[in-house]
Amino acid sequence: MSPTLIVLGIETSCDETAAAVVDGSGNVLAHAVLSQMEEHAVFGGIVPEVAARAHLAHLDRLIAKAMTEAGVAFADLDAVGATAGPGLIGGVLVGVMSAKMIAAVHKIPFIAVNHLEGHALTARLTDHVAFPFLLLLVSGGHCQLLGVDGVGRYRRLGTTVDDAAGEAFDKVAKMLGLGYPGGPAIERASRAGDPKRFAFARPMKGRPGCDFSFSGLKTAVRVAVEGLPPGTISETDTNDIAASFQAAAVDSIGDRVRHALEMFSATSDGRTLVVAGGVAANTALRAELEKRACAAGFTFVAPPLALCTDNAVMIAWAALERFKLGMTDELDFKARPRWPLDPTAPPARGAGVKA
Ligand code: KG4
Ligand code: ZN
Repeated sequence: MSPTLIVLGIETSCDETAAAVVDGSGNVLAHAVLSQMEEHAVFGGIVPEVAARAHLAHLDRLIAKAMTEAGVAFADLDAVGATAGPGLIGGVLVGVMSAKMIAAVHKIPFIAVNHLEGHALTARLTDHVAFPFLLLLVSGGHCQLLGVDGVGRYRRLGTTVDDAAGEAFDKVAKMLGLGYPGGPAIERASRAGDPKRFAFARPMKGRPGCDFSFSGLKTAVRVAVEGLPPGTISETDTNDIAASFQAAAVDSIGDRVRHALEMFSATSDGRTLVVAGGVAANTALRAELEKRACAAGFTFVAPPLALCTDNAVMIAWAALERFKLGMTDELDFKARPRWPLDPTAPPARGAGVKA
């Protein structure tokens, strides 16, 4: 790997505007991130039009900030990469147009990065994980298990048949009045709650394969909330429901991962389990995955929290990996709202589609 390569990465697919500069050895020279959390919190979720406008308003400044922090000029860049999908198309277009402009003006290659590949390859930057590896991708828009054989080479083993994992955390948090984003709020409330008080069924547990489902669990939580006398839901009730939900979700994911570890072992020499995406920030989930990986003789790798949620470092890194393999894109590359990592897998809501 040449240490002299320098790449700018841009992320605008959801509610984080971010720009990062990373070099060929994986040194993060700069990372500027602006969360739109406050803009969306008033609506209780992400509003695509609000997101696109906010990206447009802030991206140029964030790119300039990252370049200054990194101490590099545009002329020093070897390539520029941007998330070109999947995601909220208005935001994705803002990032893609900026990257194409920089590429055209400074005559450097443009790299269209799949946001999911950004998440998938992060562990190669942080922990030098070698191909092939088993990946659990759990975020607000996705929940899938993939065999990762190389850059751009993914085999989907399982996916959610309804909601994404993070989506379930966010919706349950909303039902409990815990605000947005729900994942961290549920995790906080869970710490003080009793995970055994509500015996929620573990979705898909024991079924063959490694698909996920969360909508039944979400409904069970709604029924439990509605079963409590109106107007009397105490903090203890809230904490107990949060803890019981989290326990069920984590247990269900653990069961699916156990199957995936078996499926992957039978078809691949890789013995590393990598977790990526925002829900990977969850401590209880990390502990469960570590346990499952260990029992199957796998090494478990979870990137640091800041690189699990959306960021531009992962986009710059994925662009670098592609650039090193000569995988650059034309300036007429079209941004994609949907872009599954494994194009041969049958279409499914949680695979390459943001909710
Ligand atoms: O990867 P990400 O930042 O954005 C997407 O690409 O979707 O993931 C965001 C998701 C949200 O649904 C959020 O609630 C969830 O990750 N999340 C968590 C935690 N932190 C973030 N879910 C559970 N526990 C957490 N600690
Ligand atoms: Zn993401």
